[in-house]
Amino acid sequence: MSDESASDPRAELAAGLLRRPQAALAPKFFYDRLGSALFVAITELDEYTLTRDEAAVLAAHGDEIAAAVHARLGPRPTLVDLGAGDCAKAAALFTRLQPARYVAVDIAVDFVREALAALQQRHPAIEMWGVGQDFSQRLALPAGLPAGPALVFYPGSSIGNFEPADALRLLQQARAAAAGGALLIGVDLVRAAPSLHAAYDDALGVTAAFNLNLLRHANRLLGSDFDPRQWAHEASWDAAGSRVQMWLRARQALTVRWPGGERMFAAGERIHTENAFKWTPEAFAALLRDAGWRAPRHWREGAGRFAVFLASA
Ligand code: AVI
Repeated sequence: MSDESASDPRAELAAGLLRRPQAALAPKFFYDRLGSALFVAITELDEYTLTRDEAAVLAAHGDEIAAAVHARLGPRPTLVDLGAGDCAKAAALFTRLQPARYVAVDIAVDFVREALAALQQRHPAIEMWGVGQDFSQRLALPAGLPAGPALVFYPGSSIGNFEPADALRLLQQARAAAAGGALLIGVDLVRAAPSLHAAYDDALGVTAAFNLNLLRHANRLLGSDFDPRQWAHEASWDAAGSRVQMWLRARQALTVRWPGGERMFAAGERIHTENAFKWTPEAFAALLRDAGWRAPRHWREGAGRFAVFLASA
């Protein structure tokens, strides 16, 4: 297990709060313990179909996808899982992919360590490695790992949370990590505005709680004094930018203080918390090619809301 995840969250959060004209908090700070649980709750919502859609693609086309992976990488590939979390999505592919080696990469190093220990019991024949890395900053597999071609797996349309230029950089770094192998990646697709808006502003307010919880997490990490009651969740679809944007809007004029800093917010002023870019299949295939990936192909579920792409390094 290697842990390189220690960046400086306090400095990053403070810089984001002081950003002008608009403050911003990075979406990676959603995921403390409660935030991760709220995200799981989001995936159960009627309005948020992304996770179920991806599972549907992998269930319906899994045999064909596995055959295409084996044709490119041989019968016992190495599987590198970006943002592995509880490792459940990758583990669901083990039977079809038959990996010889599994490398789980995640910023939450302790969580992955626990998940790998349990998974190793169930799959003693698979060599398992854990890497603690904030690959949203830079993806680079540690030198100690066995070298060779790998299938890089990046599910959940997390690529959509990157600005296109940053997505391009991450896909280039993923190509280096694949070392001549392949990429299997899930991408949420552009569709009608009301359905996209509802997915990020659900009737039960679970996404609102997920967004507001970021303030609790910031308080813990930075020592700030956010009161979540003074903030409101906002989400909107920006068709020109092909993205859903999320913000926290100050319900009243207020000042947020933390050790060494403070910022005044006018009533109605917003903190940007997330972009969720949505792609057309054509635009995403072009992005893959720009990043150096070859021969991209994709599979979709019945409603055409979600695509899983496979491409060669
Ligand atoms: C993790 N990521 C792909 C989710 C998304 O849909 O962009 C995070 C999320 N934000 C609000 N709801 C879900």
